[in-house]
Amino acid sequence: MTQKTLPIIIGNWKMHGRLASNQLLLTALAGAALKEVSVAVAVPAVYLLQAVNLLQNTDIAVGAQDVSAQAQDGAYTGEVSAAMLRDVGARYVLIGHSERRQYFAEQNLLLSAKLFAALEAGLTPVLCIGETQQEQDAGCTEQVLATQLDVLRNQPCGITGIHVAYEPVWAIGTGKVATTGQIAAIHAYIKNWVLQNIGSAVSIRVLYGGSVKADNAEAVLSTADVDGALVGGASLDAAAFLSICQAAERIK
Ligand code: PGA
Repeated sequence: MTQKTLPIIIGNWKMHGRLASNQLLLTALAGAALKEVSVAVAVPAVYLLQAVNLLQNTDIAVGAQDVSAQAQDGAYTGEVSAAMLRDVGARYVLIGHSERRQYFAEQNLLLSAKLFAALEAGLTPVLCIGETQQEQDAGCTEQVLATQLDVLRNQPCGITGIHVAYEPVWAIGTGKVATTGQIAAIHAYIKNWVLQNIGSAVSIRVLYGGSVKADNAEAVLSTADVDGALVGGASLDAAAFLSICQAAERIK
């Protein structure tokens, strides 16, 4: 029997939250009856346990926003390993979000090690890729994405099950959303890149991210080759996030 693949909505809280406000948000999410959608929230590392505890009787998964490239325990002050994330109940981890690329100079060599560490620990990595406005204007979007996708090559654990999030940098937190035509073309490009470069045995899911809100979710999620959404700002508001999840449920 083939398992039905549900759309995936992942909330990315970024560096937001406090115990009290998280509790309100997570309790509201926990109380919602979501059936035809896979939902996760990627919270700051210090709040992982709180999220795991408050969501424990639900189907909503918890994710981290980053992971150490160091797979083994050791003298790496400040780092949080993939095994630790698993240990506290995280199931997803974002890798290479554009803010990490921009503010923390994360590049392919490091991201490839992070991806490996996540896969080896049994986490589902969400590799975030996307072009800047300048890169788009220069007409080199596909070239930029291809370079970012290179981290999927030569992964010792294989990459089956990983998710890629296409997030044009110019659409993140700006209120500008790529057109459904642009999204469809880029998602098809990503899936085709994987087919050509990794092989047909690998199946990945491609999420769109960048100013996804309650009022555009249905249009984005019903676009060809869109398997879900990575939601930043709107994931901090229970009603907005739930309405995006409900839009996903309505898409067949
Ligand atoms: P946004 O962020 O929804 O606030 O644009 C998306 C993201 O950065 O993952």
